[in-house]
Amino acid sequence: MLIAIDGPAGAGKSTVARAVAKSLGFTYLDTGAMYRCVALMSLQAPSREPAGLAQSARIELEGAVAEGDPDRIVLDDRDVTQAIRSPEVSQTASLVAADPGVREAMVARQRELIAAGGDWVAEGRDIGTVVAPNAELKVFLTASPEERARRRAAELGGDLPTVLAEQTMRDARDSAREHSPLVAADDAVRLDTTGLTLDQVVQRIVVLARSSA
Ligand code: C5P
Repeated sequence: MLIAIDGPAGAGKSTVARAVAKSLGFTYLDTGAMYRCVALMSLQAPSREPAGLAQSARIELEGAVAEGDPDRIVLDDRDVTQAIRSPEVSQTASLVAADPGVREAMVARQRELIAAGGDWVAEGRDIGTVVAPNAELKVFLTASPEERARRRAAELGGDLPTVLAEQTMRDARDSAREHSPLVAADDAVRLDTTGLTLDQVVQRIVVLARSSA
C-alpha cells in the first residue's frame, strides 16, 4: 500500500509522514530530501546543469522508523543529513525543483523505489498527482501560513518574519511553476492541521489508511 502525503512547506508533512510510517510499519520516503540533495550539489558546482547533476547523483535515503532516530541522507557517499537543511539549500531546492529535467530524474527514482515493493508513506508536493496517481490514500496536508512559519521557526531557528517571508516566496514558486505545481489531487483528503496536535493528525490518517487498505 502507498500513502501519498503532499502539501506546502511547514504543514507538518515530514513529522506526520514519519509518525504514520512508524505507526503502520511502513517505509517513509522523503522526496523533498532528494530535491535538497540536487540543490546542495548545484550550490557546490554552480557551473553544472541541475538536470545533469540530478541524473548523476547517488542518493541513499535511510528512512527512520525508530523513534528519535533521524533519517540519514547519503549523497555520493557523503552524509548530508544536516547540510541539506540549511535555509540556503531550502531556497535553492525550490529553484532546482522547477527544472523539468531535475523532476524527471527524481520522479523516475521515486517510482523505482516504490515499485520495488513494500508499503510506503511517501511525502512531497506531487506524489498524489504525478509520482503515484494510483496511491491507495492521498492526503493533502495544510495549515495557515502563520502556523506553518511558527512551526518552522521553532524547529529550525530563525526569526518569525524572516521565516514567513521565505516561506511565502517558496510557496509561490512551488505553486506557480509550470511543471508539477503544488496542487491537491482531485481525490486527495484535505487535512488542515492548524490547531490539531501531531497525534490527532496521525490518528486521522491511520484511520483513513485502514479504511482504504
Ligand atoms: O519538503 P521539503 O521542504 O524538504 O522540499 C524542498 C523543496 O523541494 C520544496 O520547496 C519543493 O520545491 C521541492 N519538492 C518538490 N517536489 C517534491 C518534494 C519537494 O518540488 N515531491
